Amino acid sequence: MNFENILSTYEDGITTITINRPKKLNALNKATIKELHEAIKQAEKDRNTRVILITGSGEKAFVAGADISEFSDYSVSQGERLAAQGQALLFDFVAHLSTPVIAVINGFALGGGLELAMSAHFRIASDNAKMGLPEVSLGVIPGYGGTQRLPQLVGKGRALEMITTAGMIDASQALQYGLVNHVASQEELMQLARKIAAKIVKNSPVAIASAINAINAGFEEGENGFDTEITEFGKCFGTADFKEGTTAFLDKRNPTFPGK
Ligand code: COA
Repeated sequence: MNFENILSTYEDGITTITINRPKKLNALNKATIKELHEAIKQAEKDRNTRVILITGSGEKAFVAGADISEFSDYSVSQGERLAAQGQALLFDFVAHLSTPVIAVINGFALGGGLELAMSAHFRIASDNAKMGLPEVSLGVIPGYGGTQRLPQLVGKGRALEMITTAGMIDASQALQYGLVNHVASQEELMQLARKIAAKIVKNSPVAIASAINAINAGFEEGENGFDTEITEFGKCFGTADFKEGTTAFLDKRNPTFPGK
């Protein structure tokens, strides 16, 4: 598939997907959401890809939100469908991926942009980044999981303040809140992302998928994370990666994980 709104490149186990609508501050229109879904699905299927980085093109924005021009005249049912389809195609899809996804926030991450970053497994940001969920200033609320994931990440009080004030926080406050794990200068951001990704690439992708599943289970309604951990832990003992990891340790060599 040829992409019009995104770029996807691969190097050393890392697929980097760049949202590429800089003139619109990389706002997420429906076409971009579909392309992101396709590109992420391809990366997930590609056995060489061990980490996915998502970032925005240009120096100003990661993603400045859902594309407001697309939904300004929507009805109640269209609004509900927009949220449901977006969550299924992109936001829940990313959160439940077996391959770790890092959001590399290189500028504004607002509305759907912050929601995309929060769907990723973790986030790093440039020191000029600004983050917020300004939807109530438009008369709407976050619809791509923001009312759920923001309180999970920063706590209910901080989430309520951010959402009700529609304000933005800067990178250092996001770091203090635990919304992002690291902050770097814009020039060094991608280098930092690749350095973290390179550490992940060395590890067992099968075990990483199990870890993501167990961690996610603790945040799912009706699931018991501890039970999921026990099941996933047991599953690891039946994998070639486990045999390789433990054998390599005992042989005092670095493991080469077959990924199964
Ligand atoms: N949807 C659609 N278009 C958007 C957009 C969005 N979420 N965010 C930015 N754009 C467009 C602008 O309309 C403008 O397009 P134009 O040049 O054709 O007029 C272009 O991107 C540049 O944005 P601009 O507002 O001129 O840049 P700025 O530096 O003055 O302001 C922001 C930057 C991020 C503060 C401002 O663009 C903004 O508030 N965007 C909307 C954020 C938002 O509410 N997101 C939640 C959506 S649910």
